[in-house]
Formats: sequence, structure tokens, C-alpha cells
Amino acid sequence: MLRLTEVSKVYDGKSQVTALSGISFSIEAGEMVAVVGPSGSGKSTLLNLMGGLDVPTAGSVEVAGRDLTKESEEARSLFRRTHVSYIFQAYHLMPTLTAAQNVALPLHLAGVARKEVDSRVAAALGTVGLSERSRHLPDELSGGERQRVAIARALVTGAPLLLADEPTGNLDTARGAEILALLRSIHDEGKATIVMVTHDPHAAAVCDRTVELRDGRLVGDHGR
Ligand SMILES: Nc1ncnc2c1ncn2[C@@H]1O[C@H](COP(=O)(O)OP(=O)(O)O)[C@@H](O)[C@H]1O
Ligand SMILES: [Mg+2]
Repeated sequence: MLRLTEVSKVYDGKSQVTALSGISFSIEAGEMVAVVGPSGSGKSTLLNLMGGLDVPTAGSVEVAGRDLTKESEEARSLFRRTHVSYIFQAYHLMPTLTAAQNVALPLHLAGVARKEVDSRVAAALGTVGLSERSRHLPDELSGGERQRVAIARALVTGAPLLLADEPTGNLDTARGAEILALLRSIHDEGKATIVMVTHDPHAAAVCDRTVELRDGRLVGDHGR
């Protein structure tokens, strides 16, 4: 499903930062993988390369048989819309839209017909246990509920690859554990391959495999 070969990423700014160097590993369809490492070790950079949000300075990133480094920005953006969903630490919901409208957004962008949007949104909100909150604005939801809306928005497109960057980072332990259990059950129902960047030891424990970064290098890759 995903293959990185000798991937390096250097950010060229006021000073050059080597965020990743010589990273090679693969993830099979159906895996649930944690990416761990100290702050600044390159975790978010790695996730952004996997999702085609950015391209490496060297090396190749193949997702679903396509080398994203050889594609145009436009082709990558189209690819992202259908193949990859993101979940962020800070939820990234639109504050003026209801839960249901937030979840519907990627379907509207994809030009899905109105009737189908409604039924898919209802199903996704049901999966995350928020059918009763569909008309609430993000402000009217708890942090855990907001993250559930974000997960519903990630699921609604049916994208096979789910990338999560510190999905429990803004939640207390109990709420975080609920989100992790939800992601695990989504995975176990065969709905997605999941790659999750995390600081949270509980998060790594619900995954089947842990990839460890330090200073932009791969220093560990263990099964559970
Ligand atoms: N857009 C950017 N421009 C310049 N440097 C960046 C950029 N994004 C990240 N970095 C640097 O790359 C390194 C890895 O960052 P990041 O991937 O965000 O690490 P992590 O997610 O593990 O905390 C850090 O040193 C960071 O400062
Ligand atoms: Mg990060």
C-alpha cells in the first residue's frame, strides 16, 4: 500500500534543516502503525510525505502503486482527495458549520450527489457515535466529540489510507482512550489502513507495529 525508499527531506529556509534522511520502509494494506519519536524527529514531515501533501528532497514515496514524487501538484491533490484522509491534533473543523456539514464537506468537494451525501454523512456520524449531535456546531461539542466529527469526516470518503497526527494530543487520558478504541475498531472492521503519529504510549499500544524516528532517521520498527 505504501513504500518509502531512501526518503530524505531537507527544508530550505533561513537555515537548512534535514528533517528526514534515508528512510526506507513499507506498510501493507490493513496495517495499523504508530510513528513515535521525540518532538522534532520528523514524524509530521513523514506523515505529510505519505499523504502526498509534500514531496521529499530525495527518494520515492509510492502509495497504492503510484510514485507520488513523479506526479504534478495537481495530480497529487486529486489523489489525496480519493485515497487519503487526515486527522489532526486540533481537529480542524469549520467553526460555522454543524457536525453534519463538516462531515459532508469532502463529499461536496468530490461532487457527490446530495442524496448520497446525506446518507453517507448519517452513516459516518453513526460509526463514531454522534448521530444525536449532527446539528451541533463545533463550539457546542466537547474535545472528544470534535475529534469524533473529524474522524467521521475522514471516514466518509471511503479513502483507504487514514493518517492521524497526534489525534489524542489535545485530549485527557480517558477521552484519548475512547478515540484510540474508536480508531482501532474502525481498523478492525476493515475500513482503513491507519498510520498514527503519537507521543502517547497508549496510542502506540493499540497499534500492531511501531516505527521509531530519532533526528530524522529510522531507529526502530517493532511488532506488538
Ligand atoms: N516547513 C518547515 N520549514 C522548515 N523546517 C521545518 C518545517 N517543518 C518542519 N521543520 C523542521 O523539521 C524538523 C522535523 O519536524 P517535524 O516533522 O514537524 O517533527 P515532529 O512532528 O516529529 O515534531 C524539525 O527540526 C522542524 O523544525
Ligand atoms: Mg509533529
